Amino acid sequence: MPTQNQNDPLSSPARRSILALGGGVAAVGLAASTLNTASASERPVAEPVSGPYPVPPPEKTAGPIKPARGTNLTGKVAVVTGAARGIGRAIAVEFAANGADVIALDIAGPVSPTADAAPATKTELEETVAQIRAYGRRGEAIVADIRKIKQLRSAADHIERTYGKIDCVVANAAIQGWKPLLEMADNDWEDQIQNNLTGTANTVRAFAPKMVARKYGRLILLSSMQGRMGTMSGASYSASKWGILGLMKSAALELGRYNITCNAILPGLVGTALTYNEQRFRAAIAQSNKAVSPYPTAQETWDARAPTVPLGVGWLQPEDISPMAVFLASDAAALVTGAEMAVTGGDAAKVS
Ligand SMILES: NC(=O)c1ccc[n+]([C@@H]2O[C@H](COP(=O)([O-])OP(=O)(O)OC[C@H]3O[C@@H](n4cnc5c(N)ncnc54)[C@H](O)[C@@H]3O)[C@@H](O)[C@H]2O)c1
Repeated sequence: MPTQNQNDPLSSPARRSILALGGGVAAVGLAASTLNTASASERPVAEPVSGPYPVPPPEKTAGPIKPARGTNLTGKVAVVTGAARGIGRAIAVEFAANGADVIALDIAGPVSPTADAAPATKTELEETVAQIRAYGRRGEAIVADIRKIKQLRSAADHIERTYGKIDCVVANAAIQGWKPLLEMADNDWEDQIQNNLTGTANTVRAFAPKMVARKYGRLILLSSMQGRMGTMSGASYSASKWGILGLMKSAALELGRYNITCNAILPGLVGTALTYNEQRFRAAIAQSNKAVSPYPTAQETWDARAPTVPLGVGWLQPEDISPMAVFLASDAAALVTGAEMAVTGGDAAKVS
């Protein structure tokens, strides 16, 4: 039953006596005389409608209020791509900390010569799995390349066979490289589009059929604030991250009928291997309208950026992003789909 709004002049005794009378004309007349406030022109034009009101089936609602429903992932099985380090590792480990079994998927090796960051390693991927298991959950590493849909499909088959289901997939793997448009070689454009955008679409296309079959699923795609604005010397990454938003919204439209949600997380600048490099530091300082030194240090970059961010941090930590993924995977987010969830320290306030 809907709760009564105490500020609504038509709730409580006045409303009950109106509804008891039944007739709309009589009800409006009584409302005006009982409350003795509204002139003819101020009277409400909409008549109250008596119940019963339709309620959704249990799988189509976040359900009643209960403690921790936005964090509890007990019994869920989740896959996180790009989980060897950074934001992907934080999401994988935070999922396990909240009760999920987690499969950590990563290429754990070189992706493209156009990527600025050093490649992730198998040791890093194993460390993620160790951290998952430290929470008493099942964890497993899968080495796969999101550009190869066949590898993702066989990973999906294996995971479903082993764990019985796949509740949630976080498509997080990506690379970044900085190059002005006028200086780009073909692969400066193609590799980021192919890896970040097509690889993310491959992830959705490989895993969604398993969710369709069970009529349940949570897809969480990593976009970026660079997917909501242009970036100097960052066109290919920016375009890939804008593209992920189009993919996310289309998937939300197509898959809702199967009780599958699809949302995007948009981190601001986060301190990871992707960003702890001179190229990213130069871009961050330039974006803050400060003079860029030839070899910017981390401290110089933080000092330039922090005053421009509403919450005053030069960058966020991966563990600042992972709670949003937990929420989107939880029962509390049952009716959240097609949404852009920005976690930025306030940069999101600068775009409409
Ligand atoms: N760090 C930031 O400031 C920031 C900001 C906004 C969005 N993001 C996004 O967050 C996500 C994680 O970024 P991060 O900063 O943790 O980066 P990261 O470089 O630390 O981690 C990315 C991981 O993805 C893996 N990966 C890349 N291509 C792959 C492929 N083809 N197949 C399988 N694995 C692959 C890498 O091996 C690496 O382990 C990315 O989608 C990134 O675009 C990051």
